[in-house]
Amino acid sequence: MTVSTESASAYDVAKIREDFPVLARRLDGDKPLVYLDSANTSHKPQVVIDAVADHYAMHNANVARAMHQLGAEATAAFEGARDKVARFVGAPSRDEVVFTKNATEALNLVAHVLGSVRGSRQIGASSEIVITEMEHHSNIVPWQLLCERTGARLRWFGITDDGRLDLGALDELVNEHTSVVSLTWVSNALGTVNPLAPIIERAHEVGALVVVDASQAVPQLPVDLGSLGADFVAFTGHKMVGPTGIGVLWGRYDLLAELPPFLGGGEMIATVSMERSTYAAPPSRFEAGTPQIAQAVGLGAAVDYLESMGMKAVAEHERAITAYALERLQEVGGLRIVGPTEAVDRGGAISFELAGVHPHDISQLLDSQGIAVRAGHHCAKPVHARFGVQSTARASFYLYTTTAEVDALVEGLEHTKRFFKV
Ligand SMILES: Cc1ncc(COP(=O)(O)O)c(C=O)c1O
Repeated sequence: MTVSTESASAYDVAKIREDFPVLARRLDGDKPLVYLDSANTSHKPQVVIDAVADHYAMHNANVARAMHQLGAEATAAFEGARDKVARFVGAPSRDEVVFTKNATEALNLVAHVLGSVRGSRQIGASSEIVITEMEHHSNIVPWQLLCERTGARLRWFGITDDGRLDLGALDELVNEHTSVVSLTWVSNALGTVNPLAPIIERAHEVGALVVVDASQAVPQLPVDLGSLGADFVAFTGHKMVGPTGIGVLWGRYDLLAELPPFLGGGEMIATVSMERSTYAAPPSRFEAGTPQIAQAVGLGAAVDYLESMGMKAVAEHERAITAYALERLQEVGGLRIVGPTEAVDRGGAISFELAGVHPHDISQLLDSQGIAVRAGHHCAKPVHARFGVQSTARASFYLYTTTAEVDALVEGLEHTKRFFKV
């Protein structure tokens, strides 16, 4: 089967690629760049680069405190970015969008403040926190820290042999002791798209809160937080054609308003005296200090860019290119995909092993041919332990990936096999 994503009339990959300056780069040896590491970080279109540069060049000032024209412009741009992000993910209110430095900080924020809550939501020694074995370390370690602080017990969903979440024990795992269920929407290591609805339904049935790590979902799927049903959702700007240094924690407003602050400092307060302080309403309560102003402006431009393409079209391209890659990679003798091998409920990241070649050697050999993939544990060590491997190589695709690049990967892997005589 050949999936020609390039010829799709509404979705013109060649034209889209012109928006990303780095994709025209030649690497050492005059090799064209074949960038297959977008799950790690995506590239940025010129409009995003321009938005950040223009902000610093023409509108730079601190926000929400500088009483002059530049201050007003910077504040309008920063808060305008919040509006754009809220609209893009279907947040019921802009005040539910908290800017953080990345998804990691967003997940730490929610885990930390939930550990400080007192009253009926207090987490203690009889509480249970449920995650999954396919989490990124960013959605494991904060919950382990919370359990250490509170005495709560950490539990997790396992993974089936074909890389899906094992929901067999859903009702037992998520029970009346469960305070929080936190899970990834799309796995960065396996590519699996998890079925959130039954998990959210069960969690709410027992009164637990649901946190969704949408770091790999928001870049590639249409998202409507208003109907998702989760309580908190974290994602990160640099994987969705935005700048580094900006992430988002979305939370239901009534919950955010109940929570204590995370970091203390400027702009998160209502009043401060030497004895005590009171706190601002969300989202300011969770944005202490000078925020990521230029980065938020860049994220706003990224959202405009994605909206101009349409997330349905992006998702369809991702599905088609992943289907093509799954098929082509399985033609390579000795290659084993770790994760679902069919493009059903599957995102655009494919981890694999090649018999007889260490993943780091695969990545190095591919790099020498201009092909960028990731090798290692992809910050998901428990997934690798589950499948009995130390590490894998991972190719990941995005809205600018072409079938020709997938073909180059397959040729590169054949070359790697010849090089290592396997
Ligand atoms: C599923 C998932 N969660 C969380 C993260 C953390 O993102 P960041 O490093 O931007 O905080 C990543 C990044 O790879 C990820 O893929």
